[in-house]
Amino acid sequence: MQSSNNHWEEFYKEDSAPNNPSPFAGWAGDRINPTSRIIDIGAGNGRDSKYFSTMGHQVLAVDKYSEPKGKFFHHKGEIFDMSDIKCDVVYSRFFIHAVSELVEEDLLSYALRNSHHLFIEARSDKNEEGFEYQYGEHYRRLINFEKLLEEMWLRGFHIREAHESRGMAKYKDEDPVVIRIWATSPPYKK
Ligand SMILES: C[S@@+](CC[C@H](N)C(=O)[O-])C[C@H]1O[C@@H](n2cnc3c(N)ncnc32)[C@H](O)[C@@H]1O
Repeated sequence: MQSSNNHWEEFYKEDSAPNNPSPFAGWAGDRINPTSRIIDIGAGNGRDSKYFSTMGHQVLAVDKYSEPKGKFFHHKGEIFDMSDIKCDVVYSRFFIHAVSELVEEDLLSYALRNSHHLFIEARSDKNEEGFEYQYGEHYRRLINFEKLLEEMWLRGFHIREAHESRGMAKYKDEDPVVIRIWATSPPYKK
């Protein structure tokens, strides 16, 4: 198996990833207050960062392996590099299923401490492929909706909206079951 690092570096070098904003960016964008500070974690080629910045938000795209280009800030690294940076929104699309449970925990802790809103979209384990599998040459950890919601609730998030279904992230002939969550962290945690 090719390591995930090489997979993402090669994938974004090829420049074949879609450049248009994802449907999730539109969904989250409708719920984000004007002129917010947004951290897009696992931003890939920056397709959604670009969208948010054209909507008038201030965006920091964070990605360990790719270097998105556009009119937004970019940091090549991980979420825990950002330990003291406050923002209004942490946005993470198709990120948590591409990383380990430990990185997912870093993301939740970071958002709880430093951000008011958290948006997550990820592939669900209700897909026929099962809990954990390799796709092409890279690893994916499919996400259990109920377990993630419980984990977030226990950590203190308010779940504002949560959905799990097909039809939300269609791409070419693929229509996977995906999870969408909009959560806020309470001000008393700060
Ligand atoms: C499936 S892509 C999603 C890209 C983009 N959000 C989108 O929806 O098009 C996952 C991204 O996570 C990045 N990534 C993987 N592990 C990471 C980590 N530990 N910290 C930051 N970024 C990471 C990869 O480089 C890749 O760009």
